[in-house]
Amino acid sequence: MSSADIAVQVFRKLETDDLKVLQVIETGMKKHEFVPQTEIARHANIPPEKIDRTMSRIDKLGLIYRWQGAYIGYTLNYAGYDCLAINALVKAGAIKAFGKPLGVGKEADVYDALNPKDLRVAVKFHRLGRTSFRQTRRKRGYMPNHASWLFQSRLAAEKEFQALTKVHHHGVAVPEPILQNRHTIVMGIIEGAELSKWKELQEPADVLHEILGNIKKAYLEAKVIHADLSEYNIVVKPDMHILIIDWPQSVSITHPNAEALLTRDIKNIVDFFSRKFRLKISLENAVAFTVGKIETLKF
Ligand SMILES: Nc1ncnc2c1ncn2[C@@H]1O[C@H](COP(=O)(O)OP(=O)(O)O)[C@@H](O)[C@H]1O
Ligand SMILES: [Mg+2]
Repeated sequence: MSSADIAVQVFRKLETDDLKVLQVIETGMKKHEFVPQTEIARHANIPPEKIDRTMSRIDKLGLIYRWQGAYIGYTLNYAGYDCLAINALVKAGAIKAFGKPLGVGKEADVYDALNPKDLRVAVKFHRLGRTSFRQTRRKRGYMPNHASWLFQSRLAAEKEFQALTKVHHHGVAVPEPILQNRHTIVMGIIEGAELSKWKELQEPADVLHEILGNIKKAYLEAKVIHADLSEYNIVVKPDMHILIIDWPQSVSITHPNAEALLTRDIKNIVDFFSRKFRLKISLENAVAFTVGKIETLKF
């Protein structure tokens, strides 16, 4: 069960006090590696005789990590951070209920959700450091630094939301950005499958042309390079039009490595079409088209 699964199930059972405690731990993590229980009780306004029960309840729900050293302290784990984000998204009117998982990727869990108008949206939870957490937890004595992973994940969500907003504004084919909170993004939901999953395409040249056209628009108009582009981050919709997803790594065209990153993105796509659909076009030609040096692609 992913931490978002836990959060989605547990969220409805949370009481005001529980959310208050999670919020106090979140704030305390800026100062402490483990937020002392006494401090939590004080800031959440919970009487000392009740705090033990509250903390062990939240601990059992799987939302916090308990540490006992010179004192008893806590950090949020991903499920706890998820609950705070979900709470904010609900309060802002962006979502009202969760559906099924849509994709568990390398660095994110994506869920189907409903907004208050009963329209479907997608919620992406960024998860940086998840793999290393599983690996390092087994090592005795290793203290996971939750604060920095939660922080990295929030940065990734902020970066992705900014990039999506910018490229969407310039008409690049991406999911519509709706709202960002902490490490989560709400965006338009898409039907379709990653390009990597398509065994056959009726008109592979049209699809390749549309992908390169969108990279070009992002580059020339939004002045953004995706920088993690591959057949896994392109969705082909049932109408055979494409969307480019997964933008947290994107950079501005003024980045010192811009040219290399753009060329790598294009090479991944050109190589994929050559390997899978036997569609050959030269990398030089594709790059020249994307940066606006030539008007038409030569197949
Ligand atoms: N807006 C969306 N609507 C529907 N499914 C999505 C949406 N965004 C992402 N997904 C699904 O979730 C998977 C992971 O999302 P992605 O943004 O690529 O994150 P990552 O690869 O970093 O984990 C995608 O491959 C796709 O299947
Ligand atoms: Mg991806």
